[in-house]
Amino acid sequence: MTASFSDQVLAWYDLHGRKHLPWQQDVTPYRVWVSEIMLQQTQVTTVIPYFEKFMSSFPDVQALARAHTDDVLHHWTGLGYYARARNLHKAAIIIAQQYKGEFPGSLDEVMALPGIGRSTAGAVLSLSRGERHPILDGNVKRVLARYYAVEGWPGQKAVENALWQFAEANTPARRCGNYTQAMMDLGAMICTRSKPACDSCPLQQGCLAYAQGRQSEFPGKKPKKAIPERKVNMMVFMEGNSILLQQRPSQGLWGGLFGFIESQEPAEDVARERGLDDFQITSLAPFRHTFSHFHLDISPFVVFNGKMTSTRVRQEASQRWFALHEPIEVGLAAPTKKIIEQLKRTL
Ligand code: ADE
Ligand code: SF4
Repeated sequence: MTASFSDQVLAWYDLHGRKHLPWQQDVTPYRVWVSEIMLQQTQVTTVIPYFEKFMSSFPDVQALARAHTDDVLHHWTGLGYYARARNLHKAAIIIAQQYKGEFPGSLDEVMALPGIGRSTAGAVLSLSRGERHPILDGNVKRVLARYYAVEGWPGQKAVENALWQFAEANTPARRCGNYTQAMMDLGAMICTRSKPACDSCPLQQGCLAYAQGRQSEFPGKKPKKAIPERKVNMMVFMEGNSILLQQRPSQGLWGGLFGFIESQEPAEDVARERGLDDFQITSLAPFRHTFSHFHLDISPFVVFNGKMTSTRVRQEASQRWFALHEPIEVGLAAPTKKIIEQLKRTL
């Protein structure tokens, strides 16, 4: 029989897991809780000195409950995400007042404290008391999503629920505290975000992402927000081999650069509005230009002024004619350049 998921993880932990972190000595729910909160957004090496200082100032939950918020925040200076410190202090006061200074016993009571979610509650109770509770922090999500090839972004409820089920199913009845630490260590040391060390991983045999060579695809990424689409016609007025460009206002999109006359209206109407009556219109290939906050779908039109007429397109101060076959020595936006290149190929 092959070893179970948790047996493999625990055997790896015995050889390679972390056992000498400060919060793994003199283990109490209080010390583990503080360390878990500090570690939520911060690396272990950064946390260690903060943890030591915090424990010497606030050695137990009563000491923390008695402290002034300002003093607690002072101990957090440099760790960031200060809501963590405020919640820690609030929760300490609740524990001192409602639980007589004893860290609460049930998962639900722990989860009801400010700043403690399901995974942190499970981690504190399993690491400090060896109770059987699954955890699902960022590291564990990555390991499980890869091992089971769970598609989708874990920010979606359905994906998160699927991961919780795998977390629950694999959490062993024995050595639960070691298992919790082992899963965190595996995610931090082996199954890393980029370039996971699959050849040193105790889970390689059963790992679906490894088998499929798709490690980088799990966990799935947050879907990109749909960004709005705008349409614009870009009008290339031509006379002979010259094109008309207009300088854009200095503020705003492509500020100060030269571009084609833009309009939302049909190309014919624009040509007429500009004073032309005898002209030919050709369209060039439309294309999309994407900005960070919207897509611009560009339809370029070339308006040739008729040879037999003396009318010229009405010109404004911001507009200048440029010879197509000479280098254009003003700033041009990327789509303007693209249209000019298309035009040169077409003519
Ligand atoms: N990150 C969160 N909890 C941790 C722990 N107990 N040990 C190491 N890194 C962690
Ligand atoms: Fe992660 Fe690779 Fe191990 Fe799979 S085999 S769990 S991808 S480290």
